[in-house]
Amino acid sequence: MSHPTRHQPQWRPSWALLLFLIAVICSTHPSHAATYEIPVSKQAEAPAATTDANSEGNRIFSSKYLGNSVVTNQKNLGYAGIITLGNPPQSFTVVFDTGSDMIVVTSDQCQGLHCNDMPHYTCTSCTRTPYSYNITYGDGTWGAGPIVADTVSIGGLVIHDQQILDVTRSGLDMSTYGPGIAGLVGLMPSSPVRNAVPPLATIFKDKLLDMNVFSVYLTSSLESKQGGSFLFGGIDHTKYLGELNYVPISSGINVKPGMWYIDAEAAHTGNVPVAGYTKAPWLFDTGTSFIAVPTAFAKAFHDNIPGANFTSTNKYYTLPCTGNYTFSLTFNNVTYEVPYLDYIASLNKEKTLCASLVMPLGNYEMYILGDPFLRQVYTVYDFTPASSRIGLAKVIATPGSLGEEGLSGNPVPGGETIVPLRSHGRRLESGVTGLLFLCTLMAMVAM
Ligand SMILES: *[C@@H]1O[C@H](CO)[C@@H](O)[C@H](O)[C@H]1NC(C)=O
Ligand SMILES: *[C@@H]1O[C@H](CO)[C@@H](O)[C@H](O)[C@H]1NC(C)=O
Ligand SMILES: *[C@@H]1O[C@H](CO)[C@@H](O)[C@H](O)[C@H]1NC(C)=O
Ligand SMILES: *[C@@H]1O[C@H](CO)[C@@H](O)[C@H](O)[C@H]1NC(C)=O
Repeated sequence: MSHPTRHQPQWRPSWALLLFLIAVICSTHPSHAATYEIPVSKQAEAPAATTDANSEGNRIFSSKYLGNSVVTNQKNLGYAGIITLGNPPQSFTVVFDTGSDMIVVTSDQCQGLHCNDMPHYTCTSCTRTPYSYNITYGDGTWGAGPIVADTVSIGGLVIHDQQILDVTRSGLDMSTYGPGIAGLVGLMPSSPVRNAVPPLATIFKDKLLDMNVFSVYLTSSLESKQGGSFLFGGIDHTKYLGELNYVPISSGINVKPGMWYIDAEAAHTGNVPVAGYTKAPWLFDTGTSFIAVPTAFAKAFHDNIPGANFTSTNKYYTLPCTGNYTFSLTFNNVTYEVPYLDYIASLNKEKTLCASLVMPLGNYEMYILGDPFLRQVYTVYDFTPASSRIGLAKVIATPGSLGEEGLSGNPVPGGETIVPLRSHGRRLESGVTGLLFLCTLMAMVAM
């Protein structure tokens, strides 16, 4: 017979070991981690389909945000979801933007241009910081105001004392992103601007997530009402094929800390290499609705497509509306393709003339991968300092997966089910299976 009292000392190390193992398992096993998912959607019709290319004053580009010179299509829209600010919480629909750093909203104190075009944030529970900020657009518009700190909730992930740019002067014309858009959530892990603290920096400092990642799923191309989700703290393995291909953040000379740039070693039109292209960093930017490239790349890429013409007035390429020339990039020896129909937009209602969304920016000689590419891949943004990286894999965007989400997902109040306007390539061939669930309410998902 053993005496428990005598055995106890021997058990202690075992319990300690067991607890240690449990702790290790829990801290390394992603499926035990809390995750926070935010559905996102585009808020209005994709405008390129209704834009008359010849109308006067049709200006495709306006630059977006900050000294980073990141640009966005003036009229096309970002993917927006709902966050709350303050206590009691005020809800705002904001663009989730991997190409910028700060949370930006328009103050109820705002004076100047565009102030009344957007919903307003009222600083009731916020605290002041000693800082202010002036965001300038490339077209000369700007927005400035104090940096305040307040509670921010993103899909149930609560960030305390988070910096917010409260725009009180002039105003940023967020209305170009769509009706009801209040601002941006910048998802760069650090800011090139001194003393600016992006939400990801606070999330990391306060250890709010078990895994320092967010994962982005943008549903496959439809002409409008596109949706998807941003998942904080986890990876949804049901949304992609094969293994994630992790690529370290580029060490290229023009890559500022915090920017989501990774190197692509090859670029092709179909199977034909883009002449003159050598390995270069590409910015993964959910806030841009096209693919921006340097002038020489744009020429070489479109030279591979019969019928492509540069229009010097609009500074983009026109293309036939049917074709079979993919845009592809190779990262870490894996090639990812954008089908032809996914990087063109029709310029007239008859769909006889199309514009290429692979666009030269003229004065901005940079590579920016916006939504036409990002819809083809599931992307995992790992913001662990000093080892940040992007994982990518071909997204599962079959008619089945979209249909299931629409038909059997948790019913979300305020959601609606829509059908795509047209069948799109292989993925949306059979009518009703392309149903897309569009929801506008935040959901917290504990996996
Ligand atoms: C913000 O910057 C713009 C462009 O540099 C400038 O015109 C504007 O006066 C600035 N606003 C403030 C409040 O400093
Ligand atoms: C490009 O220009 C050529 C020659 O003028 C013309 O035949 C072709 O249709 C044009 N392509 C498009 C897409 O308009
Ligand atoms: C497009 O090209 C690929 C190979 O280059 C071919 O397998 C496919 O059938 C083509 N699709 C169409 C619609 O022509
Ligand atoms: C790249 O992929 C090809 C096949 O797609 C393979 O033959 C080659 O060994 C790979 N290279 C590296 C460096 O992984």
